[in-house]
Amino acid sequence: MKLTAAVITMSDKGSRGERADASGPAMCAMLAAEGWEVVHTAVIPDDMETIKTELIKCADELGVCLVATTGGTGFSVRDVTPEATKAVIERECPGIPEAMRAESMRITPRGCLSREAAGIRGGTLIVNCPGSEKAARECLGAVLPALKHGVEILRGEAGECAAPVNK
Ligand code: MTE
Repeated sequence: MKLTAAVITMSDKGSRGERADASGPAMCAMLAAEGWEVVHTAVIPDDMETIKTELIKCADELGVCLVATTGGTGFSVRDVTPEATKAVIERECPGIPEAMRAESMRITPRGCLSREAAGIRGGTLIVNCPGSEKAARECLGAVLPALKHGVEILRGEAGECAAPVNK
């Protein structure tokens, strides 16, 4: 199965060209290294309707297996990525953000401040990560080994569930 992905960066400053996006390219490289083909990237503002529209486009039009987002998961009034994600998914996948926060708390006590969510829309898995490059790397890295199997189950192409867990 071809593992297609989109990487979407939520950043007001990034979308205006006032800040270079380091997190999105870092996540693209991590995904590519694990065999994912990143077919779409975007840097968009922290705006609820814009985020929802982008996520729906990735799932319904592009039909990617995975949408990985970075940014907008914190406590500022403009951090609405989890709310936009929950508004467009059909089924939540709480284990993914649970795993991210568990790993993040091993690294920094501030790991609990990311409100990231994950869920399924049609055949697409949407996974939020925090905004800084460091945090995005740490959170995506915590769940990346499981995502391929999850997407294969989602698309009815899974092999053996008891397969080795290291990859
Ligand atoms: N998670 C990890 N693994 N590493 C980090 O450095 N930073 C935290 C948290 N999660 C962090 C992390 C901090 S300080 C905040 S405020 C939120 O993620 C930020 O989420 P945001 O950038 O998406 O708003």
